[in-house]
Amino acid sequence: MLDLKVMAEIKIRRYHEDDDEDVKEIFTLGMSEHIPSSCMHVLKQPLAQMFLGCVFLALLTSSMSIILPVLAVTLLLAAGRQSVSYMFTKYIKTSLDQDLNHIQQIYLEQPNACFWVAEVQGRVVGTVACLPAENAANYLELKRLSVRKSHRGQGIAKALCHIVAEFARERGCGGVLLHTSVVQTDAQKLYEQIGYKKVREFDVPEFFAKLTNFTLLEYRLVLKRHIF
Ligand SMILES: CC(C)(COP(=O)(O)OP(=O)(O)OC[C@H]1O[C@@H](n2cnc3c(N)ncnc32)[C@H](O)[C@@H]1OP(=O)(O)O)[C@@H](O)C(=O)NCCC(=O)NCCS
Repeated sequence: MLDLKVMAEIKIRRYHEDDDEDVKEIFTLGMSEHIPSSCMHVLKQPLAQMFLGCVFLALLTSSMSIILPVLAVTLLLAAGRQSVSYMFTKYIKTSLDQDLNHIQQIYLEQPNACFWVAEVQGRVVGTVACLPAENAANYLELKRLSVRKSHRGQGIAKALCHIVAEFARERGCGGVLLHTSVVQTDAQKLYEQIGYKKVREFDVPEFFAKLTNFTLLEYRLVLKRHIF
């Protein structure tokens, strides 16, 4: 039974083709909102601060004017924001190409995979999916968890994670794993609250991400069998 009433007004059900636009919108908005926090993350890196400071001082001493260094630092900040934005746009595009444009085939026609949406008053407000994990035998990978901003803080993400764990348990899986990033702190708190443990932190294989210490985190939930 895949339909689940979590609370009076929240319903979690399998994805239908009609949900396509909502799902892509929820995912795109959920990812894009991390652009400002990622910019802050970059600015907090000692390397970035040192670089900006050196440019500022070098131009200040060589030009003896405040305008040029301020202008140069402003341009560098704008370029940094563009790079972060580009990184997210690229990730969103890759995700659409890889699976979100083919939800039926990737998630609903494969064994041990599924895609769910959370609905409130007939409106799709959250998403989650799972697939067999590539590098961990007998594990499922939780993916595409996102909730509309207007519906956060109501336990919807927790309920979506719960349905993935139940799906994995019913199939006799040893656990569920997922990947998130260093800037997704709300998601990290959620996973830790529901029993996931951080098992590793690793670099994104992109030059700009490496340069700015933008790391990915892997979390795992070990499933205990129900004892009857
Ligand atoms: C992360 C996200 C899915 C949480 O959705 P949500 O429906 O608001 O989460 P829930 O209401 O189920 O919260 C469950 C728990 O998560 C933690 N949590 C969620 N949002 C939090 C926040 N803003 N600050 C602190 N803790 C938070 C809390 O522990 C919370 O439990 P509590 O309410 O008992 O304190 C949502 O913020 C989101 O869609 N973010 C953008 C997309 C994204 O980053 N997805 C994660 C992909 S890895």
